[in-house]
Amino acid sequence: MRKIKDDIYWTGYIDWNLHNFHGYSTPSGSTYNSYLILDEKPTLIDSVKNIGTEKMINYIKEIIDPSKICYIISNHTEMDHSGSIDKILEYCPNAQVVCSNKGEEHLKRHFKKNWNFKVVNNGDTLNIGKRNLSFFMTPMVHWPDNMVTYCAHDSILFSNDGFGQHIASSERFANNLGLDIVFYEAAKYYANIILPYGNQVLKVLDALSGLTIEMICPSHGLIWNDKNDISKLLELYKNWATHTTENKVLIIYDTMWHSTEKMAYKFFDLLEKANIPVELIYLQNTHISDIITKILFTKFLLIGSPILNNQILPTMSALLTYMKGLKTKNRFGLTFGSYGWSTVGFKDLEESLKIAGLELVENGIYLKFIPDPEELEKLNDLIPKIKNYLN
Ligand code: FEO
Repeated sequence: MRKIKDDIYWTGYIDWNLHNFHGYSTPSGSTYNSYLILDEKPTLIDSVKNIGTEKMINYIKEIIDPSKICYIISNHTEMDHSGSIDKILEYCPNAQVVCSNKGEEHLKRHFKKNWNFKVVNNGDTLNIGKRNLSFFMTPMVHWPDNMVTYCAHDSILFSNDGFGQHIASSERFANNLGLDIVFYEAAKYYANIILPYGNQVLKVLDALSGLTIEMICPSHGLIWNDKNDISKLLELYKNWATHTTENKVLIIYDTMWHSTEKMAYKFFDLLEKANIPVELIYLQNTHISDIITKILFTKFLLIGSPILNNQILPTMSALLTYMKGLKTKNRFGLTFGSYGWSTVGFKDLEESLKIAGLELVENGIYLKFIPDPEELEKLNDLIPKIKNYLN
């Protein structure tokens, strides 16, 4: 339990052991943040994943008798946030569960209970005493039911998944941990969770633009409580939502007998000589959730795979599936690889990248078995073309 402002407490759960969030690598763990506001009508904002139920309830008991809670605001149904609502309701059976229309539908589907729901719409307010809480619908950031809660009295935005980071820490405020780490994890979180919903993010940013926000309390990770950090974060969200990238190249490859690797390294050498910022990623030792974080910032991708049984390598297929779901728009690319007797698998590579939102700027470069030095040298012809897209 931690007091974060007068009468406002963090009552969440630190999940030090979460290293995989349905496929998203989270080596730093995470937190499920729940917040308790003491006012005439004590209000709990979000709960925690069920592994932290007991901890959350004990925290609440240190602050007030849980039976006094009048409202439980469920900003989002996903079980990392609403997973303990059923248990806390056992202590305050008359409390109203405040949520969006979709939130009610989702909570009923998850818990099979007809609780005392109070459905709120965009712009609605709820008076809890000296505070009015306002609700803004933020559908698809991250599920259709999402909303955020704003407390004008304290200038706090309770943003649920938005602006979160998967970090387990005994610190509660971003600027107490190390901002490089927190901003990196915020970017990774955006890339792996929120990237497909840029248009919705822009609408949310627009809706929030008239609010005074001195603190952002997300449902994962650290609380943002510095004005400059909050401005920077909002600006980054705008850039990411509009797919604003940096003028650099990411080479992502896997290889069987080092032929595709030779091409990848040749591209790297040529781009470096041309003073183009470039980074090389070997799929075998880099997790796709880290790769997507790099893609978040990158304008041009060179994607290489050999052919195995008429298909690209499974590691590459996994990345492509991930990219298709996350809709990496407004980026350019070029494919390359080595094959033995059939190039048919490269069609899947190209088509998948197009679905993922990449514009392929040239035909793919596919070389039979082992590349000749002359063939590798010829890759140099592509460098000016790649450079054209980086400005
Ligand atoms: Fe952190 Fe969409 O739940």
